Amino acid sequence: MKFFIDTANLDQIREANELGILDGVTTNPSLMAKEGIKGEEAIRQHYKTICEIVEGDISAEVLGTDFSTIVEEGKALAALHPNIVVKVPMIKDGIKAIKWFTDNGIRTNCTLVFSAGQAILAAKAGATYVSPFIGRIDDSGWDGMELIRQISNVYTIQGFNTQILAASIRNANHIISCAEAGANVITSPLDPILGLLKHPLTDIGLAKFLEDAKKM
Ligand code: E4P
Repeated sequence: MKFFIDTANLDQIREANELGILDGVTTNPSLMAKEGIKGEEAIRQHYKTICEIVEGDISAEVLGTDFSTIVEEGKALAALHPNIVVKVPMIKDGIKAIKWFTDNGIRTNCTLVFSAGQAILAAKAGATYVSPFIGRIDDSGWDGMELIRQISNVYTIQGFNTQILAASIRNANHIISCAEAGANVITSPLDPILGLLKHPLTDIGLAKFLEDAKKM
């Protein structure tokens, strides 16, 4: 399973990258705005900087919602760096654009996916990644992990190559459950990733080893 970090914060991207287990980065307009990235040039530069830090797939989201704007924006984003994956919303023109990108050798991440039907359409259009937002589904009283399982089953049965990129991760347990449910990739904020490190018995055990080491 690949690990992506879901942030536009460069310090957190560097920290995750230094762990040596990072395979990519996802951002979205909300995450970019949170870091105060404003204006076309600043946005482009920010994506380039992320590509210089992390050797892996970097999702850059289009802002247009009609076919030709999505295609123009996507082409410009893809031209920034070979590792850019164009992130396209799950809407009618988004699917058309994903098919166009597929036919023209540009990799895509279909975002804002909340149902198996949407995931099937994204795969049919040739999306490289499909992003089900499990945390937002859980927040609404539904079961995000059930959706990951369902998409995983459908993709296996149908032989689709699209990778399931579980997004909207809220905690370390989400990451573990995604691994069990068949996600190919998780994209998570830094804290849930670091949460995987934690166990009180590890801390107690290490304290005891260090204490005993003094007697060696
Ligand atoms: C996915 O690519 C999105 O950036 C993200 O995971 C959204 O998560 P949120 O529900 O925490 O905003």
